[in-house]
Amino acid sequence: MMKLPPLDKLEVSVHDALTNKIKKEITESGDSISFSSFMESVLYDHEYGYYMGNKKKFGEEGDFITAPMISDIFTKCFLNVFHKSFSNLPSIILELGAGNGQFAFDLLIAARQNNIQIDQYLIYEISENTIKKQKEIFRNKLTNELFSKIFWVDEIPENFDGIIFANEFLDAFPTNIYEIKNEKIYERKVNFKNNQFGWNIDDNAIPNFECPIDITNLPTGYIFEYSKKLDDWLKSLLNTVNKTQIFFVDYGFHQQELFHQDRIEGTLMCHYKHYAHANPFEFLGAQDITWHINFSQIANVAKNEKCTIGGFVSQANFLINAGALDLLAEYNPNNISEFKTQTNAFQKLISPAEMGDLVKVLSINKNADINTMGFNKNDRTFQL
Ligand SMILES: C[S@@+](CC[C@H](N)C(=O)[O-])C[C@H]1O[C@@H](n2cnc3c(N)ncnc32)[C@H](O)[C@@H]1O
Repeated sequence: MMKLPPLDKLEVSVHDALTNKIKKEITESGDSISFSSFMESVLYDHEYGYYMGNKKKFGEEGDFITAPMISDIFTKCFLNVFHKSFSNLPSIILELGAGNGQFAFDLLIAARQNNIQIDQYLIYEISENTIKKQKEIFRNKLTNELFSKIFWVDEIPENFDGIIFANEFLDAFPTNIYEIKNEKIYERKVNFKNNQFGWNIDDNAIPNFECPIDITNLPTGYIFEYSKKLDDWLKSLLNTVNKTQIFFVDYGFHQQELFHQDRIEGTLMCHYKHYAHANPFEFLGAQDITWHINFSQIANVAKNEKCTIGGFVSQANFLINAGALDLLAEYNPNNISEFKTQTNAFQKLISPAEMGDLVKVLSINKNADINTMGFNKNDRTFQL
């Protein structure tokens, strides 16, 4: 494994506390726990979980950077799209997992500058510490009028009408991990032996696997993620809301592309101080853990709940369809330093080697039939 920067004193104590808690959970469960339980503890344990603590996670000083932090062109493209949808829906946005609040902040400012009315901006966020930081930033940097539009909700509002937006939210859900052996599926669990966490493969194959995947051409040793918890959460969300257009933006693929023979080791990825590696048993509570979304499965859950798919495109195509090139053209090329910064940032958002093709945008409509400019060209819904 690559050499990562060392943990500081506080991070070591968090790592040790989580190790003891999870060790106890493993002992109480026999000899192993699901990876989903492990991930739930290391990311969301109330006292020590990565997302729950005070540690800097987002941006240059943290562990990872997301699209809204790279350039506000990302957010302004979504505003262009939302603006059109507001003719069919109330001007209310519900953001799931708002992180450092950059998307909300830029969206409210850009809407004000362009005279686009937003009545309410709701945030659904699991981490009290993150909410505290969001409140601080918004209170200090937004006008009172814009700040008064933001509300934090503990639950998805019953019968919600409006737009739901989530960037890099689905891939933070705890997932189970599976391995294929001789065309059968086994669960890969977590054990603790010789003073370290490790993998434990169940003795018995799973007789009826919940996610309908074709494993006939996948070799023995092929590893993949599937989160029943995510499916159940999505079902509950879709049953709670009323008339809504949802945008999920995440690293992921349609099922056929995801279950490619080359992805034999699965898609699990950890982020620590901008280093990416695949060992979830390091740096407990100090590193993020993510995986790639199976958008076909997300779309199946939505269709089973009588929703329709509004579109499915790469991030690059969504942004270009939604006016990114016009937004970039607003920068003055004679101001060389600013123009260079903006074009470099834009490049990160749309380059296939960076986020452009790996990140996808999926839209789900409930009780709303809305055509969205973001999916005008290169819509890949047929691949789902
Ligand atoms: C990877 S960060 C993405 C942050 C932000 N959307 C962005 O693009 O920068 C995931 C965010 O979702 C929040 N989160 C994770 N699971 C959640 C859940 N079940 N309910 C609400 N918020 C959650 C985390 O606390 C964090 O703010």
